[in-house]
Amino acid sequence: MPSPVILITGCSSGIGKALCQAFHRQGCRVVATARRVEALGELKAQGIMTLLLDVTDSAAIQQVVETVLAQIGRIDILVNNAGFGQFGPLMDLSPTQLEAQFQTNVLAPLELVQQVAPVMKGQRSGIIVNIGSISGVVTTPFAGAYCASKAALHSLSEALRMELAPFGIHVVTVQPGAIQSNFGRTAEQGLAGVLSPDLWYAPLESQIRARAVLSQAQATPVDVFAKQLVTVLLRPQPPITIRLGKKSRWLPLLKQILPPRLMEFLLKRQFGLTQMTR
Ligand SMILES: NC(=O)c1ccc[n+]([C@@H]2O[C@H](COP(=O)([O-])OP(=O)(O)OC[C@H]3O[C@@H](n4cnc5c(N)ncnc54)[C@H](OP(=O)(O)O)[C@@H]3O)[C@@H](O)[C@H]2O)c1
Repeated sequence: MPSPVILITGCSSGIGKALCQAFHRQGCRVVATARRVEALGELKAQGIMTLLLDVTDSAAIQQVVETVLAQIGRIDILVNNAGFGQFGPLMDLSPTQLEAQFQTNVLAPLELVQQVAPVMKGQRSGIIVNIGSISGVVTTPFAGAYCASKAALHSLSEALRMELAPFGIHVVTVQPGAIQSNFGRTAEQGLAGVLSPDLWYAPLESQIRARAVLSQAQATPVDVFAKQLVTVLLRPQPPITIRLGKKSRWLPLLKQILPPRLMEFLLKRQFGLTQMTR
């Protein structure tokens, strides 16, 4: 059987880059994509095919799919990995910031599926892997937009799994916990347009900043995460949901067993909301 062909988005750093290397090490034919193609030099030097792709650009998605088909002829696994976290209190996020969050984390992955699934339908097989998050399961303050985007992606994955099953296409949701990457740095930069002294939660600025970088505290090394994930994905029948990395198991468990008011109290206290005066 020929090597499986893997198309991955958001490969300039972190999970996307590590997944490319882990799939490559397993003998897969990897197509790494990123909107900053210059950041793909290391992967290219390792023999991985690299292409330019901003996932919010419909024409670019179409072009990438056409290029892969012309040069390799098939796509066995699509990994929708590109994403970012727009943190900050919901009261302070602009429509533009909210749109950008949902465009990249929700609508773009769906569009990739819409363009890649016909290829898989023709092959009568394929796996779509959506990189969700444990934040899509456990909502915290000051992360409402990001949590909602990942919850939406989880929901889309469930519907897609049922709808695409008759065509031999399997859909997997990955819900990583805390994984070392550039995620926190990018999230901190994204706060620049949110935090201002006259806003509702100005006294909690340090807690808001802490939430933006929370995923990088005691995080699982990205190579360890990628190796484990690729091993599971290359099994003959990968699971429906994969939770990997620090906090990915106990956090949802806590949410399941604690009374909702207690869970919310603990989260409010962690982020300074119980100390705020009216
Ligand atoms: N790290 C964690 O703890 C964690 C936990 C749960 C889920 N996740 C999810 O894992 C995925 C990867 O994140 P990461 O942790 O590896 O963070 P990262 O190092 O910041 O990587 C994110 C990647 O997404 C790319 N990206 C963002 N917007 C894009 C766009 N419009 N078009 C193409 N690429 C775009 C970034 O490209 P640029 O370099 O050009 O910005 C970068 O390559 C995300 O979906 C994230 O939500 C991460």
